[in-house]
Amino acid sequence: MKPRGAGDLPVLLAPDRSAAERVLAGEIVALLESRPSATLGLATGNSPIGVYRELCAAHAARRVSFASATTFNLDEYLDLPRGDPRSFRSWTQAQLVDAVRPARSRLPEVDPDHLDPRAVAEAYEREIRAAGGLDLVILGIGRNGHIAFNEPGSTRDSRTRVVELDALTRADAARTFGSIESVPRRAITMGIATILEARAIRVLAFGAEKAGIVRRTLEDPVSSAWPATFLRGHRDVRLYVDREAAGAIRDAAGLPRITPS
Ligand code: F6R
Repeated sequence: MKPRGAGDLPVLLAPDRSAAERVLAGEIVALLESRPSATLGLATGNSPIGVYRELCAAHAARRVSFASATTFNLDEYLDLPRGDPRSFRSWTQAQLVDAVRPARSRLPEVDPDHLDPRAVAEAYEREIRAAGGLDLVILGIGRNGHIAFNEPGSTRDSRTRVVELDALTRADAARTFGSIESVPRRAITMGIATILEARAIRVLAFGAEKAGIVRRTLEDPVSSAWPATFLRGHRDVRLYVDREAAGAIRDAAGLPRITPS
């Protein structure tokens, strides 16, 4: 099951998303076995949720320990009330952290009374560096090509910072927030350079709504127009797709496949 093809971003085609989720969860279990103090970068949202479910199950079965591990969320909304259930802090706690209890779980979180989110962003970047960087980052891709909240226009050398959210990002988040007006306008996100410094990057894209951006990520010129294109050429990156998300890729039929276990 060696990834190959689709240029410089190896792609693995899964028969369905749960097969990809099991493979990636298995990689993370193996990483934590060989390096108990590993640092993980965590996306939130639909793409990684099954991987976290698998990791919770592995933890419950005592097949993995997070007791020495550190997790760093990729991003967090700004301007939400403290403890808001729609924050990425609440989401990550519910989906992973409360169950697996990493030694440290960090987010670029701004207290609503804190006046300087920029300083929080810069401190988060320093904290990631002080932890020795990220061993493995789990990413989803936004339909506009964002990775974390590096929206179109983000540069390859960007670092953790305050960003304005793109209209499409806010429209997609309206599902969670009930209406687009309720979606925050700003967030803190790890930068593209921060992510590219990770020793391994694993990207998940499932469903027909990701087919267009998966094709662009693999086939369009590398540029800020589609930030996910910056992943191409990373020394240890893999993109896991299901059949629907692979639907628009040239030569999709020839992609290496994950065989169900
Ligand atoms: C979330 C994040 C985003 C999502 C992307 C895809 O922490 O950083 O980049 O990964 O918006 O979202 P889903 O997986 O919900 O389609």
